[in-house]
Amino acid sequence: RTAQPVIVAIDGPSGTGKSSTSKAVAAQLGLSYLDTGAQYRAITWWMVTNGIDIDDPTAVAAVAGKPEIVSGTDPAHPTITVDGVDVAGPIRTQEVTSQVSAVSAVPEVRTRITELQRSLATSAEDGIVVEGRDIGTTVLPDADLKIFLTASPEARAARRSGELKGADVRATREALIKRDAADSSRRTSPLAKAGDAVEVDTTDLTLSQVIECVVTLVEEKRDAR
Ligand code: DC
Repeated sequence: RTAQPVIVAIDGPSGTGKSSTSKAVAAQLGLSYLDTGAQYRAITWWMVTNGIDIDDPTAVAAVAGKPEIVSGTDPAHPTITVDGVDVAGPIRTQEVTSQVSAVSAVPEVRTRITELQRSLATSAEDGIVVEGRDIGTTVLPDADLKIFLTASPEARAARRSGELKGADVRATREALIKRDAADSSRRTSPLAKAGDAVEVDTTDLTLSQVIECVVTLVEEKRDAR
């Protein structure tokens, strides 16, 4: 086998098992792992914490370059800091989740975060699994393998409510559909399946089945070159 790094892009809406799948695939294959949603959440956390009006794209754009966002790419222990502060917990709050779509729609924010993503991807020695919404289409259009994960809205809401421990499934479903609609309809780099991506519908698959499917696809790509 060649020692050439392999770059895997995994995109799709929320609740499709993107993070669990990406982390496990990276760990199994000895690759780095990058959660790009965590980066958008981190910059959103910084905006909220610093009192920036997130409904004012000009105000958001003006400070998009200010926070220093650092991602640790070990799949066994992914980390994220903003100006040296560990924000792994705070970026998962409802407050951040409900505002992240607005912040990530601002072109200056995307340019900034996309640069970070490309630099992490090219410096990963053995390769990397990068998960997000626009990785296959915009961030890494030359990725060796592109996966697009989907699942029915019901399955996605059920998984998310499970994660949020006892959250109301219906309210979760509404919030999730609203966020996906915003992420898919924004002008700059929306959530979309790349033309050359492999679509995997996870509705009726267990997490291990999805992991196995993606691992096999990566190994086939590696063997083919
Ligand atoms: O994957 P997640 O739910 O943590 O992502 C949070 C938000 O970040 C999502 O609603 C849209 C945005 N995002 C994005 O715009 N582009 C990406 N590549 C990843 C996430």
